[in-house]
Amino acid sequence: MKKTILITGGAGFIGSHVVRLMVTKYPDYRIINLDALTYAGNLENLRDIEDRPNYTFIKGDITDEKALHQLFETYRPDGVIHLAAESHVDRSISDPLSFIRTNIIGTVNLLNAARDLWGSDLNGKRFYHISTDEVYGSLGSTGYFTEETAYDPRSPYSASKASSDHMVRAWYHTYKLPVVISNCSNNYGPNQFPEKLIPLAINNIRNKKPIPVYGKGDNIRDWLYVEDHANAIDLIFHTGKIGETYNIGGNNEWTNIALIRKLCQIMDKALNRKPGESEKLITFVKDRAGHDKRYAIDSSKLMNELGWKPSLQFEEGLEKTVNWYLNNEEWLNNIISGDYAKYYAQQY
Ligand code: NAD
Ligand code: DAU
Repeated sequence: MKKTILITGGAGFIGSHVVRLMVTKYPDYRIINLDALTYAGNLENLRDIEDRPNYTFIKGDITDEKALHQLFETYRPDGVIHLAAESHVDRSISDPLSFIRTNIIGTVNLLNAARDLWGSDLNGKRFYHISTDEVYGSLGSTGYFTEETAYDPRSPYSASKASSDHMVRAWYHTYKLPVVISNCSNNYGPNQFPEKLIPLAINNIRNKKPIPVYGKGDNIRDWLYVEDHANAIDLIFHTGKIGETYNIGGNNEWTNIALIRKLCQIMDKALNRKPGESEKLITFVKDRAGHDKRYAIDSSKLMNELGWKPSLQFEEGLEKTVNWYLNNEEWLNNIISGDYAKYYAQQY
């Protein structure tokens, strides 16, 4: 039987890679992409697959409870892969309420819509919630986040994602909704909105503008290429155990300053600049409020139980990413010519 899968947030960074993977790998599935097209949603991310017969885009907001119930009645999805969210920590500091609305209330609306449609007919049904390692808080210089690590979110963004994870588990225990959750580390790659560290730095380096590094640049993140995350999502959606959580990470920790220096070297080469030229743009700025020190993920459950592993070495992934942005300057220029300039001016 043909399955219908509803993907939320499919016009965003990670969502667009997940939509492309599902549409091309599973021609028998009907893929519905529901996205509100906020500042972060961009249909350009999906131009190459938008005419596929198994793909439908619907502009809609997950905070609109009535519209969501209607959509579930009309399309009757068998599965949900839920990525729609407000995703940027700095924006959550200046506007926490929009994170509460989308990340918490929006998630509950989706859970209710799935529960009400599926009732007790749960055969082949699955609600997959995509979450973040930030729910676990901040690590010291040693240790890793595992699936058993206690939640300790510290930013409005991570607190809203932690809350949504709790809601998803509550719907599993209370209503027997067949859920699965994954918590992933920092993604990078094509189509990432240039408010996030790597594309922001790429954009500033190409324009010879200062690269803002928060604090001393000694905060640590664990970076994963976005297509490796999309592959993990495919695997977990199809083979993950109901009720379980899987951590996804790159086993690839970098201080922000070391990462920016590496990026500068790659950009110098790509732009035929003298070695060391881009590094001169590094500028230390005021630290992020409540800045989490270190994230590091232990993905051994996902690797051992479901057989996932990341495919790309970091340097290779960074080079691919830089090349993508330099070859898609129109994509970048379209974004930075809009509201982005206002956001950037308030931020830095
Ligand atoms: P993104 O900001 O690039 O995209 C979010 C998408 O959701 C956009 O297309 C936006 O239009 C849509 N959206 C926002 N509010 C909506 C609403 N109310 N209704 C419908 N659509 C709405 O985000 P991303 O970086 O691709 O992250 C996707 C998911 O993965 C999020 O849930 C995020 O928490 C999670 N995640 C992200 C990372 C990362 O490094 N980017 C890591 C781990 C987990
Ligand atoms: O860990 C997963 C999370 O990774 C996701 O859940 C979030 O959606 C995603 O945005 C990302 O959060 P971070 O806050 O880690 O990503 P960001 O790219 O904003 O910042 C990465 C690091 O770089 C962080 O330590 C802050 C720092 N930074 C960021 C920006 C934008 C700077 O030093 N300068 C900057 O200009």
